[in-house]
Amino acid sequence: MVTKGIILAGGHGTRLYPTTRAVSKQLLPIFDKPLIYYPLTTLMLAGVREVLVISTPAHLPLFEELLGSGTQWGLSIQYAAQAEPRGLAEAFLIGEQFVGGQACALALGDNVFYGAGLTAQLVRAASLQSGAVVFAYPVVDARAFGVVEVDRSGKALSIEEKPAQPKSDLAVTGLYFYDSDVVNIARQVRPSARGELEITSVNEAYLTRGELQVEVLPRGTAWLDTGTVDAMHEASAFVRTVEHRQGFKIACPEEVAWRQGFISTEELLEVAGTLRNEYGTYLKRIVASPRH
Ligand code: G1P
Repeated sequence: MVTKGIILAGGHGTRLYPTTRAVSKQLLPIFDKPLIYYPLTTLMLAGVREVLVISTPAHLPLFEELLGSGTQWGLSIQYAAQAEPRGLAEAFLIGEQFVGGQACALALGDNVFYGAGLTAQLVRAASLQSGAVVFAYPVVDARAFGVVEVDRSGKALSIEEKPAQPKSDLAVTGLYFYDSDVVNIARQVRPSARGELEITSVNEAYLTRGELQVEVLPRGTAWLDTGTVDAMHEASAFVRTVEHRQGFKIACPEEVAWRQGFISTEELLEVAGTLRNEYGTYLKRIVASPRH
């Protein structure tokens, strides 16, 4: 069972300069809430209750101000700094104490997932006994991502980081579930040609052991990119369209915590009372008519 998760929200966000010169990208809004709420609620839907947020020393206090101790959502949230962006696998070296020899998930702070059936896949991944589970998504051009080949049973056959000639159209998304060996494996990773401790190297180690499972996200799920100004705008537009049409919020931590049973109705209403705006009104409304 995976009940711990790391959210990696580091990096300098240079592709979004000047917007991200003074502010972390993961604090910018995707429509009506900060970007980091999306991976946070994805982990919560998987059943994760203990979270470590890793960011730059400069941005870490801002995340602490936003997310606090996590108790308002029935979580425990801790914080750790990544001095320089040395690669995704470094999350497990920085987070070694937090992981404490247990199984642990990793979510990239800028990945947005949405769709029916997603929760069931998350719960399945979180129930892993040994090995690793990655989430893959079919894309038109996989060259910019980790790329995985999968057999019929969902077992990975090959995995490569940003290959010039992808062996499949399945991009590896920024959501990973690992057993308690992950820190030992991360310790053995050496920097790649681009000088980073690649998460793909961690996944390759599990592949070599025959223990890398792949959850392929089907049609009808969305994995949204937030890497560019256009992608952020499009992700916001997507969330706005769905939310306005259905009247439900995507990635609302208060709502997810309440529906998951992490907080009581009283606790939800207490938070709602402090938000004198549309967001607060929404929280009161879902209690009054909890249709879904
Ligand atoms: C990272 C990973 C890559 C993965 C991608 C998903 O790439 O290295 O395997 O497909 O995240 O967002 P990066 O965005 O750091 O280049």
